[in-house]
Amino acid sequence: APLDRRNTFGVAARAQVLAEVRDAAALPDLLRHPDFEGRTPLVLGGGSNLLFADDPTAPVLALTGQDVRVLTDGDVAIVRADAGVVWHGFVMHTLALGLAGLENLALIPGTVGAAPIQNIGAYGVEVRDSIHAVEALEPATGRVHRFDAATCAFGYRDSVFKHQPDRYIVTAVEFALSRTPSLKLDYAGIGDELTAMGIAEATPRDVADAVIAIRRRKLPDPAVLGNAGSFFKNPIVPVAQAEALHAQYPTMPIFRGNDVGTRKLSAAWFIDACGWKGHRDGDAGVAPTHALVLVNHGNATGRQLLDLARRIAESVRQRFNVAIEPEPRVIGADW
Ligand code: EPU
Repeated sequence: APLDRRNTFGVAARAQVLAEVRDAAALPDLLRHPDFEGRTPLVLGGGSNLLFADDPTAPVLALTGQDVRVLTDGDVAIVRADAGVVWHGFVMHTLALGLAGLENLALIPGTVGAAPIQNIGAYGVEVRDSIHAVEALEPATGRVHRFDAATCAFGYRDSVFKHQPDRYIVTAVEFALSRTPSLKLDYAGIGDELTAMGIAEATPRDVADAVIAIRRRKLPDPAVLGNAGSFFKNPIVPVAQAEALHAQYPTMPIFRGNDVGTRKLSAAWFIDACGWKGHRDGDAGVAPTHALVLVNHGNATGRQLLDLARRIAESVRQRFNVAIEPEPRVIGADW
């Protein structure tokens, strides 16, 4: 089956086996089918966080369940959504229910099931802040696990699921959302955007609208220009290294990391400084609006995009002695 339309880079790839499953309860039976038996499936969500450098050898699984349910209501409500639910639609649905917490994460491509795997984040918020529990099937044992937020071991674009790729199939996620919003407006750009929108007392929905406007300006729409959002994670380095770099390059942004003793630097800034923004090799390129986003101008192959990414990372390493690593999962090649 072709996977070209199932990855937001829009690169050509084929699956030997592709199964769509609506009801997670049917998974154990499916995994005993000869096409899956004893093989670890590759689960595809929105295809917005992977790069096919080659065809996947694993059978591919797409979860299509669309159930969304408020399990308990109150000042804090627990909302459960199937892994297959489209993330942005889910965010807007929770806001329409009067529930706050996900507004800064509007318009992130992908599905609910993919969100905890790399702990999606934007504009000062990470999904870990709202996750109550994650339900996942472990194909090797057939067991269904329920992870509370602590067991998910979330970090910056990281979790227990990211550390053990394919060990678990996330089937549903429960979110704890609030009827008393506490808005996070400190991340650069949101306050200004709200002011430009003429809004003084913002609602969570207003914040989502501001985020949507900023993202539309900066990040290419995958439906128009193939991409997987940020291709590189922001590097986390020891404080001393961050300060030495900052002394040399005063315009270089520094963010406070989650861990003591480290600082998060801006991969976009390094890549931009190396002159890659808007660069193009055939159909593989760097977005003209954001240095972190690799784009497919039409017929780039996954290999070509991977080659470009490696050259970018190598130039940043040579010039700044900082290692940057891909955020999307690379299928069919080692980084
Ligand atoms: N910058 C440049 N050149 C550029 C773009 C940015 O120098 O072309 C510098 C600027 O100094 C800017 C700074 O980088 O102030 C930060 O840029 P931005 O606010 O766009 O954030 P980011 O660190 O590049 C991260 C996430 C995005 C998320 C934004 C907003 C990662 C890998 N990326 O990008 O997430 O939307 O913050 O919160 O953490 C994604 O993960 O796919 C993604 C798009």
